[in-house]
Amino acid sequence: MPPDWASSDELLLSLDPGQGRRAGLEGAIRDAIRDGRLGEGDPLPSTRALARDLGLARGTVAEAYAQLAAEGYLRSRPGAATRIASAAGAAPRRPTAERTGPAPERPRLSLRVGEPDVGAFPRREWARSLRHAVTTAADDALRLGDPRGSAPLRHALAGHVARTRGALVDPERVVVCAGFAHALAIVCASTRRAGATAIALEDPGVRQHRSIAGHGGLRVAPLPVDDAGAVVGELPDAQLAVVTPAHQFPLGATLSPARRHALLARARERDALLVEDDYDGEFRYDRHPVGALQGLAPDRVVYAGTASKTLAPALRLAWLVLPPALLEPALAAKADLGASPSTLDQLALADLLRRGAYERHLRRMRQRYKRRRDLLLRALAAAAPDLPIRGIAAGLHLTVELPDHDAELDLLQRARERSLELDGLTPFWHDPRRARAGLVLNYATPPEHAYAQAVAAVEAVLSGSSRPGA
Ligand SMILES: Cc1ncc(COP(=O)(O)O)c(C=O)c1O
Repeated sequence: MPPDWASSDELLLSLDPGQGRRAGLEGAIRDAIRDGRLGEGDPLPSTRALARDLGLARGTVAEAYAQLAAEGYLRSRPGAATRIASAAGAAPRRPTAERTGPAPERPRLSLRVGEPDVGAFPRREWARSLRHAVTTAADDALRLGDPRGSAPLRHALAGHVARTRGALVDPERVVVCAGFAHALAIVCASTRRAGATAIALEDPGVRQHRSIAGHGGLRVAPLPVDDAGAVVGELPDAQLAVVTPAHQFPLGATLSPARRHALLARARERDALLVEDDYDGEFRYDRHPVGALQGLAPDRVVYAGTASKTLAPALRLAWLVLPPALLEPALAAKADLGASPSTLDQLALADLLRRGAYERHLRRMRQRYKRRRDLLLRALAAAAPDLPIRGIAAGLHLTVELPDHDAELDLLQRARERSLELDGLTPFWHDPRRARAGLVLNYATPPEHAYAQAVAAVEAVLSGSSRPGA
């Protein structure tokens, strides 16, 4: 059987799936030492971190480390990192060109947008909820069932969204979707049927959302954004507008109270519908979360939440809270699009919410992300004190403004040379001619054990970039 490349950002290991887990891990570490990828004195990740990244039990990793220590490959001391021993049978480090066979990929660090810390996914709690769902669901739950999604989840979400986001939610008008991308496709298709021809999307914003709206038959009109959020005075003529009021994506502004009221007034005037993309609304660090716009006008605003940032994007679980008039058209569009997340996963999420495990996870993650954000801010202040930073009050990412596009390209290149993947700000613009240069740094992406290393890499890449001519 070919080996599986198992990625921990500190260590890329080829695990042989034909072996047992412990033996496979031992073999992979031995190979890495023998071929010189791991050299004398190199630290290994903690057993906890490696176990989490590779999806193994911590005991399995500890046993593999103990076995390799007994064989003389590793040395470990209580309270210190386990390291590669001297004379561990390690080949001297060889430059890549001298290696025989394909060169193993270099480990990569990433602060690219779009992911939470998936290493923190609450596996045990999810497994408990999924087991509960599978063992207690009636046979009926295994049929296609209610097109809105499973009733226990719609009721649990209604309570959660009302409590935590101040939205007005009737569980009868909650529709469970396969991610916000699916939710947006549903809203576009249903409003198009009712005669909509254009949609306003924030600029900058998510490119995929522009293409989803375009494929949905709507003309995409850019909605400019400044430090107070979407610029309502420049709202294009469209029957539908999507906004990110809690934390504009990607610039990070919070829609100001004056703008919220102006936006609602403008939408009423034009009989337009607003979609509130609340993709990271649960994460706010400076004060209590800013309530949902939907709470001010539930007849005019479609609220959209997702588990992609709170749990994992792979779940493909999101939810819409619809104004009464849009429910039937949205269900018709959902039926036409033909997708829906697994009912068993929906029931598992309902159980996670019911047991309070979802909120506990959010509390833990808020603390973790705040700590990460603060560490990144300290590094940015040290490396590039003159570069303006935006969007730090909430969410999982911040932006660093750069003087021009050459600086952006140069920094992205320098980051790549350090095996660090970053996002530039330019591609998020609808019209590249309007684009402002910068970096979008998603501090949630790296696994916990590699975070300090990732921040150190960002600091090294940015050092000097704020000084003229650097
Ligand atoms: C602006 C924005 N909205 C929504 C989402 C969530 O998308 P989905 O639920 O399809 O994963 C993301 C994810 O990265 C996002 O950046």
